Amino acid sequence: MNQPLERPVGSGTGGSSSDLTARAEQAARFVLERVPGTSPRIGLVLGSGLGGLADRFEAAEAIPYSELPGFPEPAVVGHAGVLVLGTLAGVPAVAMRGRAHLYEGHPVREATFPIRVLAALGIQGLFLSNAAGAINPEFRPGDLMAIRDHINLMGRNPLVGSVVPGDPRFPDLSAAWDPELRQVLHEASRSTGATLREGVYAAVLGPSFETPAEIRMLERLGADAVGMSTVPELITARARGVRCFGVSCLTNYAAGISSQPLDHQEVIETTERVADQFQDLVTAAVAAADRRITAASSD
Ligand code: HPA
Repeated sequence: MNQPLERPVGSGTGGSSSDLTARAEQAARFVLERVPGTSPRIGLVLGSGLGGLADRFEAAEAIPYSELPGFPEPAVVGHAGVLVLGTLAGVPAVAMRGRAHLYEGHPVREATFPIRVLAALGIQGLFLSNAAGAINPEFRPGDLMAIRDHINLMGRNPLVGSVVPGDPRFPDLSAAWDPELRQVLHEASRSTGATLREGVYAAVLGPSFETPAEIRMLERLGADAVGMSTVPELITARARGVRCFGVSCLTNYAAGISSQPLDHQEVIETTERVADQFQDLVTAAVAAADRRITAASSD
């Protein structure tokens, strides 16, 4: 009787805010015990079908999310759920191969917990990627799009609740998608020969794809692409002071733009088709982004 109720780790809204910081630091210590001496400077979140980039890591060590305290397990086909540490283009880096989506039912603070762990590991830059539907009529499935800005229509924000120690209460998102690092992406696209579009990513909760009427609305709102991820991670990373850049792989025409019905298989097939181009681009961009970030922080 009258026992104090204990909230199990990972439940509800993620426990108290100070727990979240303590848990992230604890998980980072766990990673350091598994991979002694690791000191990643850049983090990467590899979206649906884009996880193959982790195979380019050198001296790679992989830890399944199932072994990492507090990491939510992604459930979707095409998301493996492993943390990979090593070097990419000579840069100490950490990649999340697969991510938990809000539409799987994860509370937003839990879905973004791994970003807090990457920040606790010391990353200075975060590259975010996703699969997205193309809304801009000039864009085609198979195109890559540097994310210039986003529209958050998920109805969720990972910073709701009491302030997590070290987070600002009201983070500024006016240059959330770092202009200098976006420039790095364009330079990398020129050096690798990849065509890189640029645009605004609208984030929706999903998991149903949008209706044609919703896509017409999103186009009028100024969106070039639509997807079901990334924005909660960006907001969390910005709250930790991490500089962010990202690319959407446009996998399909958004609903109503072509007469084709939408399905997840098409999403995966398109990411596989452009995998090499995507990986070349990101590898080149990570090396250049790391140089810029290092130069800026030693100014
Ligand atoms: N809508 C939402 N999410 C997506 C899409 C889409 O058309 N394609 C890939 N992810």
